[in-house]
Amino acid sequence: MNYEALLIDTQDGIATITINRPQALNAINKSVMTELNSFFGNDYKSIDGLKSVIITGAGEKAFVAGADIKEFASLDAAAGSALSKYGQDTYMLIENFHLPVIAVVNGFALGGGCELAMACHMRIASSNAKFGQPEVNLGLIPGYGASQRLPQLIGKSKAMELLLTADMIKAEEAKAIGLINYVAEDKAEALDLAKTILKKIATKGPLAVAKTIQAVNAYYDESKDGYQIEHQEFGNCIASEDCKEGALAFVEKRRAVFTGK
Ligand code: CAA
Repeated sequence: MNYEALLIDTQDGIATITINRPQALNAINKSVMTELNSFFGNDYKSIDGLKSVIITGAGEKAFVAGADIKEFASLDAAAGSALSKYGQDTYMLIENFHLPVIAVVNGFALGGGCELAMACHMRIASSNAKFGQPEVNLGLIPGYGASQRLPQLIGKSKAMELLLTADMIKAEEAKAIGLINYVAEDKAEALDLAKTILKKIATKGPLAVAKTIQAVNAYYDESKDGYQIEHQEFGNCIASEDCKEGALAFVEKRRAVFTGK
């Protein structure tokens, strides 16, 4: 993997992806989006023993301050729609990733940055984080999923308010309305908390973790029958070696050793 805009560091099976354009508040330009797409689409396979992913931004000021506005100038309707579609598809790869992905939001999470955090399975913010969808300030609507995921996470009324006013909210309010899971003091503490949660999940059955993500996501996908997926995957899990090991470990009063099979 040879990335220009992302830093990737793997420890204890946790890959930490840092969006590394601090001079532009980590705004998502073409390189960032292409590299995220490559990582979640294919490149993760080259990391031995990968168990989970953290996404964060370089520095203390911003997670991601949105899509790179400086790349918008020359776009016509077709090119704008294609940019949005590629971003949506990339964020879908994250949302549907078979391993847990946590956003550590270390500052501004605006526009495409808030959308990136929402595509992750959980969000932990530092106390200086600020969230918002300021697209209407630019005469735009969100392009990377906020019109869908923001109402899913916080309900239609509040989502409409944030999307139409472009107001920014602080981390504590984001937690109060259900946009994020936890607020930590600073970035280091947020990273520690994310790693603690991911290490706990890594002790569970990998197949069950992947299928839980799939089943929960089905609730939000009108093309899928979530209950059908739940009973089908319940069956697949119950027939798995992991479930046999989990049940045996329960009876033998010991910790299960899962293989993901
Ligand atoms: N795109 C490109 N560059 C950006 C950027 C963005 N989204 N956000 C910040 N930057 C750049 C600034 O242009 C500036 O660069 P220069 O030093 O070369 O001028 C640098 O980052 C630092 O930014 P500021 O000087 O503006 O920092 P500040 O502390 O005064 O303000 C801020 C911080 C409030 C986050 C402000 O930068 C801001 O409002 N940024 C834009 C936020 C935004 O509108 N995001 C939505 C983008 S559209 C989108 O994301 C659509 C979508 O859904 C796909």
